[in-house]
Amino acid sequence: MKYMEKIEKRKSIREFRNRPLEAKAIEEIRAFLPQAMKLCPGIDVDLCVVTKPDAGDKLEGVAGYRGKCFHAPAYLVLLSEKADFYMENAGFITEDICLKLTEMEISHCWLTIHDGEAVKKALHIESDKEAVTILACGYGKKERTKKRLDIFTPSNVSFRERDGHVAPKISQDEMVFQSRWGKKVEWDEGGMDPLLDKAFYAASLAPSFLNRQPYRYLLQGNRVLLCVENEEMTNDNDTLLDIGATLLNFDAIASQQDRVDWSMGSPGGTKDLGIPGQYEVVAYYDWE
Ligand SMILES: Cc1cc2nc3c(=O)[nH]c(=O)nc-3n(C[C@H](O)[C@H](O)[C@H](O)COP(=O)(O)O)c2cc1C
Repeated sequence: MKYMEKIEKRKSIREFRNRPLEAKAIEEIRAFLPQAMKLCPGIDVDLCVVTKPDAGDKLEGVAGYRGKCFHAPAYLVLLSEKADFYMENAGFITEDICLKLTEMEISHCWLTIHDGEAVKKALHIESDKEAVTILACGYGKKERTKKRLDIFTPSNVSFRERDGHVAPKISQDEMVFQSRWGKKVEWDEGGMDPLLDKAFYAASLAPSFLNRQPYRYLLQGNRVLLCVENEEMTNDNDTLLDIGATLLNFDAIASQQDRVDWSMGSPGGTKDLGIPGQYEVVAYYDWE
């Protein structure tokens, strides 16, 4: 399956059938980690697949919005050594795992982590590395019974049943600016490389904490800047994971032409771009 197809198909599923993952599927997921795309390839990571029947009970109250972890047949815990940008790298890898699961038709949902040590303790994971992401996964229930996520604030999140399934996202048009903050891109004027156009579209479909999509892209000549909002509703780690997830979607498409090599942080010289005070430039790279 091509990356764009997986990116468009991926969605969070929060209700699972009582059917365990087959050993073959678990093997395939484990074998995927070394092949998964990495933002910082030098950072050592492990993937722990937890299938114990009581794992959901143990995790309840420990991970997920309002401590809800959906009693899935399996939990995938990504463990990472601590290093510069290890959270962004974890978000990047986890999104690639989500796309792999999408291809395997295994339903899944991210669970926010408040305390990585508590997660390791609950799931009896012994590792020196930090538990950085968790995916609840299994075979999802039929669409009509899917839980809808209504987000008001992190402490006021409700899950209701709904018919449709797609979480509304801001469009690529609202997410990308050209030359200056707020200046819309003229996508149809022939000035935009078609692959870059697709990469931004893919980036706009990434999962994000509370679906808040806290990032915006700004094109400054052939330089792509990623700006992120520091907002109260999202804790720092989730924002960093969101950055990784949107960058994975972008890179999965853009790297079809050339290697995408993000520099983390700000290149400087961005003062005159009109970037609002609550946003900061967190990554950039030069498109050839
Ligand atoms: C870092 C991160 C943490 C998340 N934590 C949770 C969570 O704890 N519980 C949950 O139900 N969904 C969680 N999600 C999933 C988002 O709510 C979901 O991606 C968003 O609502 C958009 O929906 P979609 O994934 O179907 O496109 C998380 C996503 C990310 C990227």
